[in-house]
Amino acid sequence: MICTEPACAKLNLALDILGKRPDGYHEMRMVMQSIDLADHVTVSTCPGKEIVVTTDLPYLPKGDGNIAAKAALWFFSSVGMEPEGLAIDIQKNVPVCAGMAGGSSDGAAVLRVLRRLYMPDMTEEQLEEIGALVGSDVPYCVRGGTVLAEGRGERLTDLPPLPPCWLVVCKPSCSVSTPELFAQVRLKKLRCHPDTAGMMNALERQDLEGIARRLYNVFEDVLPRRYAEVFVIKNELLELGAMAASMTGSGPTVFGIFQDQETAAQAAGALSKQYAAYLCRPCGAAGI
Ligand code: C5P
Repeated sequence: MICTEPACAKLNLALDILGKRPDGYHEMRMVMQSIDLADHVTVSTCPGKEIVVTTDLPYLPKGDGNIAAKAALWFFSSVGMEPEGLAIDIQKNVPVCAGMAGGSSDGAAVLRVLRRLYMPDMTEEQLEEIGALVGSDVPYCVRGGTVLAEGRGERLTDLPPLPPCWLVVCKPSCSVSTPELFAQVRLKKLRCHPDTAGMMNALERQDLEGIARRLYNVFEDVLPRRYAEVFVIKNELLELGAMAASMTGSGPTVFGIFQDQETAAQAAGALSKQYAAYLCRPCGAAGI
């Protein structure tokens, strides 16, 4: 049996850190948005019990170290099955270590395929609970679309979709370590927080200007100086006509919101001379 599943990247329209939890993780409040930049995950059943991962990026882990294999192992143990032999092949299109949940989304795609193959009656909530065992962003990636994610990232509330727009996503060459950036956060020193309630109202009203005005990611305020390129790209996006621009997740990827395709395409073209740049559209659950 062979199944292929898209694994969409996400952007953060808002990212807030509310506190430190007793389990060492942080209490989050994030507005997440799927985009049509996606990896392609192919899962084939094989004889034996081994789970092998291959990708078109040779430096990514091939065995249990890959989040896609971890997701499969958590799926089997959660449903009380012995692991089945699987060959998981991932065509990577989403930049790695970019704050776009590329790895989490691959893990979520594996979970969706395994549910289809072995547990078709499993509910979305049950699959998201397994996702939470795999990683903080995985429950959201199982669901996709426009979602408020709270707690560690596992408490999900569907939101109205982002109104039609164009997104220019730009990844500088540096990479940020998520745990390292969380370690930089001094909660009392975070003076600004996103207007998440206002963002949700703007989504309700389908007010793209109101949404753009409220793009905010508190991680930008704790970025070490060596990531100054993030702010250079933000300014370039604004100069190239973006309504607003923000870093996504723990970075370093930056995105801008555009009302019209032509301006967005020109901005993506200009940025691609220096960086990895992508012209994207928002998408709903499971890449639709
Ligand atoms: O859950 P995941 O493995 O994706 O998290 C990676 C790291 O990010 C954690 O080890 C932790 O340092 C940090 N993290 C956090 N609070 C969250 C999510 C992640 O501190 N809500």
